Amino acid sequence: MIEIDLILKKYTFVQRDNLIPILQEIQETLGFLSTNSIAKVGEYLNMPTSKIYGLATFYNQFRFEIKAKHHIRICNGTSCHLHTNSQIIREFKKHLNIENGEMTKDGLFSLEETTCMGACGLGPVVAVNNEYYTKVTSEKVCKIIEYYSNK
Ligand code: FES
Repeated sequence: MIEIDLILKKYTFVQRDNLIPILQEIQETLGFLSTNSIAKVGEYLNMPTSKIYGLATFYNQFRFEIKAKHHIRICNGTSCHLHTNSQIIREFKKHLNIENGEMTKDGLFSLEETTCMGACGLGPVVAVNNEYYTKVTSEKVCKIIEYYSNK
């Protein structure tokens, strides 16, 4: 969410006329308008989020969901947590340069931390679209990204 803060800082005059350019810039950065980013904009412009949604949905250019070609889900359940999944989450974020709930600028990858995926003994567990990967290591993270980058 640091990126959102940087975008908002550019608009030093806090006025509602800036809403559309701010939303456009956020979408350019994240690939879509996340719930968190809308909340931040609402806080910054002192506008209710319902009003922001109301205005944004009027324009066809705005998207509110992640629609990446490859959606990566990383289990953040207790058992996977004990199997160093936090390191795996960090690796994915670092390599893709996105946070949980975000999408890469090229629309290729989106990332989501999830609850237990039902393969606790085989953690850390990662799913890309409908393919499951178990006992994921840092090396596997690179291979997974590389594989789907060329798919
Ligand atoms: S906690 Fe990760 S699969 Fe169950």
